[in-house]
Amino acid sequence: YIDTLDKSGRNATAPYLYGLMHEDISHSGDGGIYAELLANRAFQGSNWNSTGIPGFNGSLIGVSENPVEPIAPVLTAWASIGDNVRMLLDLLHPPSAALPTAMEIDFPVNASGEVGFQNFGWWGMDVSPQRYNVSFYVLGNYPRNQANLTTFTVSLRSNTTGEVYASSTIANVSVPYIDFIQLSTTLHPNRTAPDSNNTFVVSFDGDDVKGQTFYFGMFSLMPETFMGTENGLRKDIAGAFYDMKPTFLRFPGGNNLEGISPQQRWKWKETLGPLIDRPGRPGDWNYYNTQGLGLMEYLQWTEDMNIERMLAVYAGFSLDVYGQSGPSYPEDKMDEVLQEALDELEFCMGNTSTTYGALRAERGHPEPFPIKFVEIGNEDWFSSTYPYRWPIMYDGLKAAYPNITYISTAYNENLAYNISIPAGEVWDTHHYEEPSFFIRNFDFYDNWQSRTNNTGVEVLLGEYSAIQIDTPSGIVDYTFPADLHIPYPRLVSALAEGVYLLGMERNPATCKFVSFAPSLQNLNWYNWTPDMIAFDADPSHTVLSASYWQQWIFAHYRGTQTLPVTNTQGDINPLFWAATYDEAKDVIYVKYINTLNTSIPLTITMPQQYSRTNGTILTGADLNSYNYVYNQTEVIPKPINFTEGNGRQYVEGRNVSMEMIVPRYSL
Ligand code: AHR
Repeated sequence: YIDTLDKSGRNATAPYLYGLMHEDISHSGDGGIYAELLANRAFQGSNWNSTGIPGFNGSLIGVSENPVEPIAPVLTAWASIGDNVRMLLDLLHPPSAALPTAMEIDFPVNASGEVGFQNFGWWGMDVSPQRYNVSFYVLGNYPRNQANLTTFTVSLRSNTTGEVYASSTIANVSVPYIDFIQLSTTLHPNRTAPDSNNTFVVSFDGDDVKGQTFYFGMFSLMPETFMGTENGLRKDIAGAFYDMKPTFLRFPGGNNLEGISPQQRWKWKETLGPLIDRPGRPGDWNYYNTQGLGLMEYLQWTEDMNIERMLAVYAGFSLDVYGQSGPSYPEDKMDEVLQEALDELEFCMGNTSTTYGALRAERGHPEPFPIKFVEIGNEDWFSSTYPYRWPIMYDGLKAAYPNITYISTAYNENLAYNISIPAGEVWDTHHYEEPSFFIRNFDFYDNWQSRTNNTGVEVLLGEYSAIQIDTPSGIVDYTFPADLHIPYPRLVSALAEGVYLLGMERNPATCKFVSFAPSLQNLNWYNWTPDMIAFDADPSHTVLSASYWQQWIFAHYRGTQTLPVTNTQGDINPLFWAATYDEAKDVIYVKYINTLNTSIPLTITMPQQYSRTNGTILTGADLNSYNYVYNQTEVIPKPINFTEGNGRQYVEGRNVSMEMIVPRYSL
């Protein structure tokens, strides 16, 4: 029985419950949601060749074992066009202080016909009717006169047939030899290429350039982006996030915030400004990060989706190359770490009379980006130094920004110490578990605050997913053995995760935020599965997983108050439920999950005005059903009519009772 009359039994729901977590892992940023189409665009190091990734079995399910990409300058993803055209890395003509490597192209003295070079993209590139912005830097090696003008042709082509989908020339360029110039143009294909095996080509008439040497730096090929934002996000992936109705974005990590050394941490100041001035860094996930997706881009992302920012600030703890606990800042140097975070918040929120607020305005956004939530570090239960780092960071930030809610990444998981989290602040917990863990712990947050002596402390489930099948020990094996590991979220993942989240929905005074992790996986190069969304260069291949759809349903059907539900027969488990009420719409939402292999008869009684015959169901042929490329709709929400089959509704007084059969393994 769902009680809508007894208002005393209601509680306000958590307004920001379902959000997003993003860090650059599995080429989810570079080669992923960051819309740049060129791989290794500034020769910083990147390996676009997926062959040889252990575990990649061609069936698009599997886990790569952290292949390490080169983090020194390389020419991967680039190839020359034309006989005897030489392509070299060059450090003697740095395009900028931040990007010291150029690509040298030497044209032979007898060059003729078409010569040049191409980039293969992030395992291909999507070519479709839209505008592509092209730019690159170029320098010659000696003074040229008027007779020595050069015509550059840029094009998008099929890598299999050579068909040209779009082409543009930049004519009569006097290539300088002291300072690089930036050339730019646009490309407009008028049709969609049949597949994503396409390349970006820069070509010349051999006669025009024979015997010459050019140095190139920092290319960019940008398609149209989500909300049209400059240097923005890939439309289909960002669109899928947006459609999920998230309420916040936790960024930029995850491990990738922390760095594989303190020196290589995510330094927000280095992620700003013109791309030519961004040095990038070796990320924590074994590939070079261009930082094209920098602080401004993350902030803009949240503005474009109209969601809250959950900014994770570096807290003086880094990992080592194996992702294990690495060095911490000593206590007497923590003032530097605190200052870096204070400066970052000033950049985000300060008015334009402040140093960093002015810098933000200079970067094109005079209006502040308000920050409500700041996470101090990431997974600091790994470290033994949080007991001094947390209070220094918390006290310093709270004094400067008292209205922000701060998130601790530890409290007492490391039994060697306790972190005391003040009431009103948040604890971030991460769960990569077996399905049965999530079901078993449905009631984990019931009385959590009093049980754990954390009165007033709220919870962020900042990362979670069902990562392996159920085992007798319940211990997660992070070597991802094939017989245990769940590479793609399955129906069982969505149901188990959903049960746990119902438990969180029922405890809104404690459970405030939830974000699945990792959120994205490039199917050609990845170091973690399962992920919420998988993709490759072809937008028609993007896979929205069963776990995505579970969150989509939960986020779409979410009221503003919890409603008391009385069960007259049978207890919670194997059927799990929660009900909420949307005051503005005067609608109630009832979510229920059947974890049994048989259907369950259910009668829901509620005031007649709320009755309806239609709902949404997520289920599949099998508990192990999952969505994958070319089979993306195996587990997706579908409409369901309760009155079909054995379903019926009958009115008693002011109430209606809805009888229905809840199908096996369904949400
Ligand atoms: O989501 C992958 C990693 O798992 C995150 O970077 C880290 O926070 C956690 O250990």
